[in-house]
Order: sequence, then structure tokens, then C-alpha cells
Amino acid sequence: MDGNGRWAKKRFLPRLAGHKQGVEALRACVQDCRTRGVRVLTVFAFSSENWNRPADEVSGLMALLGLAVVHEIKALSDNGVRLYFVGNRSALSPKLVSALVDAEQKTAMNEQLILNVCLNYGGRWDIAQAASSLASSGTTITPESLDRAMAMAHVPDPDLFIRTGGEQRLSNFLLWQAAYSELYFSDKLWPDFDGTELDAAIAAYSGRERRFGKISEQLTPTLKDGHAD
Ligand code: IPE
Ligand code: MG
Repeated sequence: MDGNGRWAKKRFLPRLAGHKQGVEALRACVQDCRTRGVRVLTVFAFSSENWNRPADEVSGLMALLGLAVVHEIKALSDNGVRLYFVGNRSALSPKLVSALVDAEQKTAMNEQLILNVCLNYGGRWDIAQAASSLASSGTTITPESLDRAMAMAHVPDPDLFIRTGGEQRLSNFLLWQAAYSELYFSDKLWPDFDGTELDAAIAAYSGRERRFGKISEQLTPTLKDGHAD
């Protein structure tokens, strides 16, 4: 969800105002995904590297996350959204961790849309923690065993990977899982990424041919329709 800071700067507002608008954009995006039949939405809220930002921005982001989780839980529940917080919790405050656990428990029965919020997350962290848990239990490391040990093991690999804010890089998001994802880069700043932009991303995705290493002639009509898993 890149571009909050620039969105605020363009309006002569503090960066935190951009992050607040980012929460609004996420709320709308969750609804837009639901109405379009998307079953899993995974967002990058705070990376392992974001701790290096100025201290007031980090503390502002943490406070905003805590507030958003508490405020949104009822509406999310009413809309059938199941929350997961994915990332290394050891550096988060115990108060925030208990709010996250509470939100996960309160939404655990919901089935319409899974919303994964990646928090103090990094793709390299996930690969390393999966490998180290396999090593400590003496399990052979294979692509399949690693896959099962990942913090993202509860959902399929993403079909579509969207980055907003104009940069064309992955920035340590879903490194393992994005092996065959279709990448889509939008110049829109995250607070401006609305339903129309989501439709444009889905339309671009629909036009891609996903071959998964095969050649075009081998693909079944289902695969060509983009329903491969
Ligand atoms: C949001 O956008 C990403 C978060 C860490 C919450 P940025 O804060 O990176 O916004 P820009 O890139 O400065 O515009
Ligand atoms: Mg940025």
C-alpha cells in the first residue's frame, strides 16, 4: 500500500494524515474485493524495514494500526471478513499483540473474505523462520515442507500482486509466494487506489496468459481463463 506519504505531502499535510487516508482506502478496498468475489486480500501494512523510519512516524503508524484494528472489527465481522496478522510479533508492543489476537479470534468464524495484514513482515523473514522451524524439528527442507511452514501457509499463492505508488519492485513482500503471481504496477498513490483502479488491475490480470512453465498449446481453456491455482 505505497504512496501514503506522497499523498499527504501533495496536500501539505503531515505524513500521518496520509496513513490515516490509507486506512480509509483499505476499508473501501475490502468492500470492493468482496463485491468482486475476491476471496483473499493480503496487504503490506508495515515491513521489517519500516522500523528505520523517523521515530514519530513509526509510533504514529503503530498507534494508527492499534486504533484501526479495534475500530474496524465490528464492520469487518458484519461483512464476513476473517482477519490474520502475518509477521514477526516479537517486536510489537504486548498491547498491540493482544488487540491483534483478539481481532483474529473475533473474526475466526467469518468466511467471505480473508484479509491478511502483513505487519513487521518481510518475505525473507518468512522464508528464514520457516527454514529454521523445519531445521529445529529435524524435517527435511523441500519446497513443499517450506511452503507448509510459511506464515502465509493458510492461503493459496497470490494470483495478482499489485503495487501502488509508481515503484516497480517487490520490496521484500511475498517473495516465496509471488513466484507465479501476475505483477501489476499502478502509478496511483495508495489513498487514490479505488474500485476503478482495482477493476483496471483485474482487467489487466484477465488478459495475461498464465503458463506456469508450460507452452501456450498445452493450456486448458480453464487455465487460459485465469482460474488456475
Ligand atoms: C505507505 O506509504 C507504506 C507504509 C509503510 C504504511 P509510504 O509511507 O511509503 O508513502 P510514500 O512512499 O512516502 O509516499
Ligand atoms: Mg513508500
